[in-house]
Amino acid sequence: MDVNLGRIVITGVAGRMGATVREGLRENVGELVLFDREPVTADSDNETVHEGDINDLDALQKAFQGADAVVHLAGRPDEAPFDELLDANVKGTFTVLEAARRTGVRRVVLAGSNRVTGGYPIHHHVFPDEPPRPDGLYGVSKVAVEALGQMYADKFGLEVVALRIGSFETEPTETRHLATWLSPRDCVGFVRAALTTDNVTFAAVYAVSANARRFWDLTAGENELGYRPVDDAAGFAPGFPDDDPFWHGGPQGGAFASPESTLPHLPE
Ligand SMILES: NC(=O)c1ccc[n+]([C@@H]2O[C@H](COP(=O)([O-])OP(=O)(O)OC[C@H]3O[C@@H](n4cnc5c(N)ncnc54)[C@H](O)[C@@H]3O)[C@@H](O)[C@H]2O)c1
Repeated sequence: MDVNLGRIVITGVAGRMGATVREGLRENVGELVLFDREPVTADSDNETVHEGDINDLDALQKAFQGADAVVHLAGRPDEAPFDELLDANVKGTFTVLEAARRTGVRRVVLAGSNRVTGGYPIHHHVFPDEPPRPDGLYGVSKVAVEALGQMYADKFGLEVVALRIGSFETEPTETRHLATWLSPRDCVGFVRAALTTDNVTFAAVYAVSANARRFWDLTAGENELGYRPVDDAAGFAPGFPDDDPFWHGGPQGGAFASPESTLPHLPE
């Protein structure tokens, strides 16, 4: 890919996806700004580190000065007490979008989640414009993430792409991943496409590999971002039982959609 993406900020760069996205974008950027509350080290001349919290508007504005785009990955990536999700995912995303507005950043790529629709049954093929059906409090927080992105696009003209990320793993580790896997290569592909596509105001698309057993639409991603994923979890299917109860029906979120996954996080 022979394109210079300019100055790109990655929040949450010290995390699992951050490392892959950083590596994947490195060749195509003028400068990478690495933002996380955890320590990060610059590996090359075109990397700058900003240690800080995504709820610190001043710290974000300093990091966003002169940036062409922000890839916002920082947040709480799983079920948690609602206050923590509100703080990390909802308020954190609001603060990132607000810092982007104030500093004139053109585009923000948001880490949404497939869990915004994890309550739909596995036999239902979901399109991104269907109503949300979150499978837990985390999914609810990611519905709010998308809503904030839509509002900042409509009201303030930011270009926002919300990627409904599947299960980001080196390779599938459980049956559900045969449907939900997002390979590292496709992860980078979706993020690059979200940064380079033309004429986007707001788009919410599933970022999942081309898994034969997926239950999410890929055409919106292809139409809006021009990206068609290349990997397929089917090659790993022999490692998992065909008769796994996951395939008998039930919600796409699998165990994440069970009461047990949320009950420990509810107030006493
Ligand atoms: N990994 C997946 O399969 C998956 C699936 C769907 C969505 N997502 C979303 O993608 C994003 C990245 O996921 P991940 O798996 O890399 O998560 P991760 O937990 O590995 O990384 C998150 C990073 O964000 C940083 N962070 C958290 N709160 C912060 C704050 N307040 N200020 C500054 N930095 C903060 C953490 O230090 C960490 O480095 C998350 O928003 C997650 O919800 C991930």
